[in-house]
Amino acid sequence: MVMKKKVILDVDTGVDDALAILLAVRSGELDVLGITTVNGNVSLAQATINTCKILQLAGAENDIPVVQGADKPLMRPSHFEHKVHGKDGLGGALRDVPVHKQAEPGHAVDFIFDTVRRHSGDVTLVMTAPLTNLALAVMKYPQLIHEVQEVIIMGGVVQGFGNVTPTAEYNIYVDPEAAKMVLQAGFPKLTLVGLDVTRKALLTEKHLDALQDSPFADYVRASTADYMQRYQERNGVRACALHDPLAVGVALNKELVTTGHYYVDVETRSDLCDGMTVCDFQNRLQRQANVHVCTGVASEPFLELFIEALRR
Ligand code: RIB
Ligand code: CA
Repeated sequence: MVMKKKVILDVDTGVDDALAILLAVRSGELDVLGITTVNGNVSLAQATINTCKILQLAGAENDIPVVQGADKPLMRPSHFEHKVHGKDGLGGALRDVPVHKQAEPGHAVDFIFDTVRRHSGDVTLVMTAPLTNLALAVMKYPQLIHEVQEVIIMGGVVQGFGNVTPTAEYNIYVDPEAAKMVLQAGFPKLTLVGLDVTRKALLTEKHLDALQDSPFADYVRASTADYMQRYQERNGVRACALHDPLAVGVALNKELVTTGHYYVDVETRSDLCDGMTVCDFQNRLQRQANVHVCTGVASEPFLELFIEALRR
């Protein structure tokens, strides 16, 4: 029997985090040991409620523990994204659904360390939110970096414009100190799934039609409606960039992306460029490469994988 890949997801459940959770749970190839929540798109409490609702929708509420983490960034104020994710964080799609699943007692930081240590060397952390929880975990348990198999981060942009400021991507921008700490912590395998590739993973009407016979068709269409509307206003085409689902896609199949090993650091002291992920492609700083940066993606094969998982 093939052992499923063990993962912990860290989320700020928003529209695309929810789709990432559905992909992880329904792929049938991941052993989701738990989901930790953090302040980001919406408050910690709302992200936790949304995560529990999605697990109920996926029929996995009794299989996967949800553990709450940080309720604010390390040093900065919260920076919610209700205009993108809606007031509730799921585009209003499950607004009237009662949530009965509760988060487990305890803190995400301790859950991450205890779980990683129990399966030392075998757990992949998939981070689709500001990196506050992981930074706190590294500070409290420095030996964590030696016991994690890989950290896959949806975040940053290294060859294009940001989605919060001209230079910064949201997850990094919200807690740049946490991101800097994580990238510099010494994790042996860090993979950065940035906007460079996630912007190419576009869910369109064609894909929604292909989802028609999925039990999640109505949810996916409802939760992405406003997101697609805004995307159309900005880019002229109705689509939803599957930022967080692609991070799960990379955990499922590394062949979906091409990567390069570079030194990457985060700006934390700039009025203009705070939260920028700076990738030293030409090794001008002569520093040890610390990140496997995704520079290309097989978009359609990823979308097919996503659709197939949700139709299962
Ligand atoms: O920039 C996209 C990222 O920011 C995604 O994780 C989205 O959920 C938001 O958190
Ligand atoms: Ca997210």
